[in-house]
Amino acid sequence: MTSPNPALVRDVADRRTFAIISHPDAGKTTLTEKLLLFGGAIQLAGAVKGRKAARHATSDWMEVEKQRGISVTSSVMQFNYKGKVINLLDTPGHQDFSEDTYRVLTAVDAAVMVIDAAKGVEAQTIKLLEICRLRNTPIITFINKMDREVRDPLDVLDEIEDVLQLSCVPITWPIGMGKNFRGVFSLLNDELVRFRPGEDHLTHETEVIRGLDNPKLDELFPMEMKDVRDAISLVKGAGEPFSLERYLAGDQSPVFFGSGINNFGVEDVLEALVNWAPSPRPRDAGTRMVQPTESPFTGFVFKIQANMDPRHRDRIAFFRVCSGRYTPGMKVFHVREGKEMKIPNALTFMAQERKRMDDAVAGDIIGIYNHGQLHIGDTLTEGEKLGFVGIPFFAPELFRSVRCKDPFKEKQLRQGLQELGEEGAIQVFTDDIGHIYLGAVGVLQFEIVAQRLANEYRVDAIYEPTEVSTARWLLFPDDKGKTKEEFCNEQAARLAVDADGNLVYLATSVYNLQTTQKHWENVKFLTTREMG
Ligand code: G4P
Repeated sequence: MTSPNPALVRDVADRRTFAIISHPDAGKTTLTEKLLLFGGAIQLAGAVKGRKAARHATSDWMEVEKQRGISVTSSVMQFNYKGKVINLLDTPGHQDFSEDTYRVLTAVDAAVMVIDAAKGVEAQTIKLLEICRLRNTPIITFINKMDREVRDPLDVLDEIEDVLQLSCVPITWPIGMGKNFRGVFSLLNDELVRFRPGEDHLTHETEVIRGLDNPKLDELFPMEMKDVRDAISLVKGAGEPFSLERYLAGDQSPVFFGSGINNFGVEDVLEALVNWAPSPRPRDAGTRMVQPTESPFTGFVFKIQANMDPRHRDRIAFFRVCSGRYTPGMKVFHVREGKEMKIPNALTFMAQERKRMDDAVAGDIIGIYNHGQLHIGDTLTEGEKLGFVGIPFFAPELFRSVRCKDPFKEKQLRQGLQELGEEGAIQVFTDDIGHIYLGAVGVLQFEIVAQRLANEYRVDAIYEPTEVSTARWLLFPDDKGKTKEEFCNEQAARLAVDADGNLVYLATSVYNLQTTQKHWENVKFLTTREMG
């Protein structure tokens, strides 16, 4: 192998690609906005504000639709901070779209977990962290809303350690809370950073008081300092010191306290990202690990967004670069289709604008216009047959049978569902007599799909209940052999194919699934399908 190109090595080392994970309302949008403000990507709150308005929409689907409307521009936000190029990938907030979120998490190298200090660890946080765990994604924790009456910080830390099984190392410690929130004491720098409510400052020229024993602290905060010193000594005594190695391995999380809305503690998170979060790491491409500094260009599609502009029916594949360098007009090898494809004008995402992308290296996300050639999980290379692993599809637990109100529009219905299926908006299964079943993880997905079929494909879809209750992808010991043939003959009535042509077993009940599984012990019934 040739030695890596020094410019590529340097550019890759400067990349930080991460997502923010949190339970809805913990403060993800607010933190995103403040991070962009610090990164100079936006001048004033606004870019992400649209999403706030969306939250007050009258119905769930309207909210999601509005989010979708602005989500191409806010799906990926790139900005510079202290010489590093930071890619922040947005994840949908609504739990019915958790599948989308899981796929976005496969494209990042690190995550920031936002916890509402009053609520502690919430349901969605647990799920999202599980996904990060699968890939040992390093996590920075931000405990938010300290300007409110919240829980005892020791309690919250305890809960994170207990429920999430993640060892926490506080890097800052809060002084007071709510109306009496005074700031944080940095355990790393051994200094106090004072809190001034409502200050929208970007640099803190706040006075710095060094040393936890400094009597000046007692003069300033006579009521709080005893508790603070007790808590810090407890934390220092009981806990382990921060270890960069353990953070990078995903089993220790540095913790910061703050108040996103007041811009407090946000800079700490950015500094941690710049100083500690990993630059793009090697990725498993099936047959081998791909190093980010290899010069051949490689990467994978983790998200598709179609018909954002109704006039153009545009379709954008979000593509994570894993190695090499993207240059405009380059020709690449589409591994699944086994043929060459040109990327004439990929997009980059700078907060509010879509711009033409001129240069991208590992860690960067480019948007590729296409007419359906690219699916979620597709790998592009410069010729090598690779397949990046780990893009999950989950077996849906909610099903509807679908047909057209107007039988003459059958073709549009199939086309729409094929495209929406490829986009990952819903899972589409077709049996051999042409019956279509839709599978979803959250019920809202059905509503959105009906709405999009009507708006984008001019088809009124009718949903009907179905006896299907769960689905499993099938893996045979002999893909072309006897077992498969016998199984397909015997179970023909329960078989269908997904949007990518994979064989699926549609079970009517858990009992039905178990009986079939028992009978066909050498067939694997998979609850997730990994793309790639
Ligand atoms: P999300 O994306 O995780 O769903 O949360 P988002 O940032 O939208 O924040 C949820 C609510 O919490 C918002 O209030 C927001 O203003 C508030 N919030 C975020 N960070 C802080 C903080 O540090 N301190 C306090 N006190 N509140 C915070 P809202 O009333 O629902 O919306 P809005 O009317 O403020 O827009």
